[in-house]
Amino acid sequence: MNPIEIRPGIHWVGVNDRTTDLFEGLWPLPHGVSYNAYLVVGTKAALIDSVKAPFGEELLRKIARILPPDRLDYLVVNHMEPDHSGALPLLRRVAPRAEVLATKAALPMLDRFYGIRDGVRAVADGDKLDLGGKVLSFHPIPFVHWPETMATFEESEGVLFPCDAFGGFRALDGALFADAVDFAHYEDEVLRYFSNIVGMQSAAVLRAIERLRDLRIEVVAPSHGLVWRKEVSRIVELYARWARMEGDPGVTIVYGSMYGETLRLAEAVAHGVREAGVPVRVLDAARVHVSFLLRDAWRWRGLILGSPTYDTGPFPPVEHLVRLLERKRLKNRVVGLFGSQAWAGGALRKLGEKVAELGWDLVGEVGFLGAPTAEDLARGRELGREVAARVAAAGATQSVAGGPQGRKT
Ligand SMILES: Cc1cc2nc3c(=O)[nH]c(=O)nc-3n(C[C@H](O)[C@H](O)[C@H](O)COP(=O)(O)O)c2cc1C
Ligand SMILES: [Fe+2]
Ligand SMILES: [Fe+2]
Repeated sequence: MNPIEIRPGIHWVGVNDRTTDLFEGLWPLPHGVSYNAYLVVGTKAALIDSVKAPFGEELLRKIARILPPDRLDYLVVNHMEPDHSGALPLLRRVAPRAEVLATKAALPMLDRFYGIRDGVRAVADGDKLDLGGKVLSFHPIPFVHWPETMATFEESEGVLFPCDAFGGFRALDGALFADAVDFAHYEDEVLRYFSNIVGMQSAAVLRAIERLRDLRIEVVAPSHGLVWRKEVSRIVELYARWARMEGDPGVTIVYGSMYGETLRLAEAVAHGVREAGVPVRVLDAARVHVSFLLRDAWRWRGLILGSPTYDTGPFPPVEHLVRLLERKRLKNRVVGLFGSQAWAGGALRKLGEKVAELGWDLVGEVGFLGAPTAEDLARGRELGREVAARVAAAGATQSVAGGPQGRKT
């Protein structure tokens, strides 16, 4: 896509990345991702964030359609993660007189990542930069996503550049603005980005939302994905809801199964959840990448884990998901457990201990030897119904008590 003027004098000059397989070397990108950089042009010109290193030339070509890159006066570094800072060395060579602006916490990183020490200025909360016709102000939002992260705000047009906040996976399919697409096609990838990348920093996301509340924001222009110029509150509220970790009324069943015994229970549990009128999704932990499991566990309040005992403990892919959820600090899940074993077991006991440690609400468990009996299957169905009922009840309380916090979308 060519540069797009999102407001007078404010241009998107980002790139689509459709070839990186794994974001952060870890999270699959079946639909790609964008690195959004923005050019703010007054009498002086500032570039806000950049792109991953291999896309530096493409960024320069886009800037050149608006002004010669050596005319850049400022490089604003909201965040030092290399998906946004990687083109800095190239930009420095091309625009040697551009001053780099970042938080104090970013300065040692600029030095250690790129050897950038000179022509750098630390900005503090509320500092302003007059570009002549455009005014930038700087607002640290530590830990969204790293400690040095800040948001930049253009005051005359009300454009917020919050970097990783309010962004999502999925390259821009020919449209930049959220109001120009069916957001339903993007939301899954926004939630997957949220849960995989910034979910662990949910408290910081909520603090950032509080902190930015006083700004007169008309456009939200994140550094990944769609730009919001209408219904700005929609993306902010989605992020706030995910960061509060209430979970929507629904159940994710994640199971592993070597010979199909635990899987038979999974089918029965899913049937029980559906009978209670609650949406359910069944996912095989060994076949579906954990990135997607994490997303669905974040989306829905109910989480039912099925695991055979494997070498005295949980089936490794199921255990891996629980570990990651622990690392991401997911709270408030209503949980059920089930699984097969051939002798002394151990999977459900260990999973149960972890669930208690995480403060999740364990509704019940169905363990059995070998193949499930008709009675085991009936207990599984009942477990599904019970978790679903608990999840639906929590949802009802939230939407009565929650007002704007209740789920509306
Ligand atoms: C590699 C391997 C390790 C296992 N380790 C244990 C174990 O430590 N304790 C136990 O009770 N059963 C163990 N089992 C038996 C399985 O838990 C049992 O066969 C179960 O029915 C498998 O359920 P599934 O078909 O859903 O995978 C093990 C099985 C395999 C193949
Ligand atoms: Fe980041
Ligand atoms: Fe990022």
